[in-house]
Amino acid sequence: MIVGNWKMNLNTKQSLTLIERLDIHIPSVRSKIVLCPNFVALNAVAEKLKNNSKFVLGAQNINDNDEGAFTGEISGPMLKGLAKYVIIGHSERRILFSEDDEIIAKKVAAAIRNNIRPILCVGENTHQRQEGLARRTVMDQLEEDLSEIIPSEAVKITIAYEPVWAIGSGLNAEPHDVEKMALDIYRFLVNKYGNETADKIKILYGGSVNGDNARAYLDINNINGLLVGGASINYKTFAKICQF
Ligand code: PGA
Repeated sequence: MIVGNWKMNLNTKQSLTLIERLDIHIPSVRSKIVLCPNFVALNAVAEKLKNNSKFVLGAQNINDNDEGAFTGEISGPMLKGLAKYVIIGHSERRILFSEDDEIIAKKVAAAIRNNIRPILCVGENTHQRQEGLARRTVMDQLEEDLSEIIPSEAVKITIAYEPVWAIGSGLNAEPHDVEKMALDIYRFLVNKYGNETADKIKILYGGSVNGDNARAYLDINNINGLLVGGASINYKTFAKICQF
């Protein structure tokens, strides 16, 4: 599974152009490709992808409430039928928009309630890694963020391990460290939901993934795909990553 998080880039016209180029440069798909444009472009992109089986649509955020006086927010019922996936708990939302694990847990529940599959992002920052707290941080995030999710719902979740210091920085996490964390995440899932459910939950890596390093991450045990930011709006690079 390869997820392209376009973040706050590309207007609707540019989003549609990117899809046309990806469509040409990805002649056949080997993995599930999820594209996450901004909210304004979502409808037009959904329309464009109507008869296209290569790409699936995802959103970048969801409010934890289904409706109400929440100026500027987008809810699950609004995304339902449009986005199949939604990114939740991205470090940019945790840091820049002060989202804590309590609100993230509610967002995960809101997505599930509205039949949208959450891509839950977890990961430690530089300080936590240096202090030897990377594993603890990620396990705590998982514990809290999944607190409202029961096994039958958990199968719909994807976990993205994204060390904060690796996002948009060009600093790659060592595959060896990613492998260790992916195993810890898998063990956590087995412990919480049992073997059968854990085996159905995909674990992705994200953070400065590009055309040169993607292969190495995809080869890691317990890593089932990638969450790509910056490189996902470059059609040549993203097409290359999607065809590994
Ligand atoms: P990046 O972003 O690939 O630009 O590091 C990844 C992400 O934010 O999900």
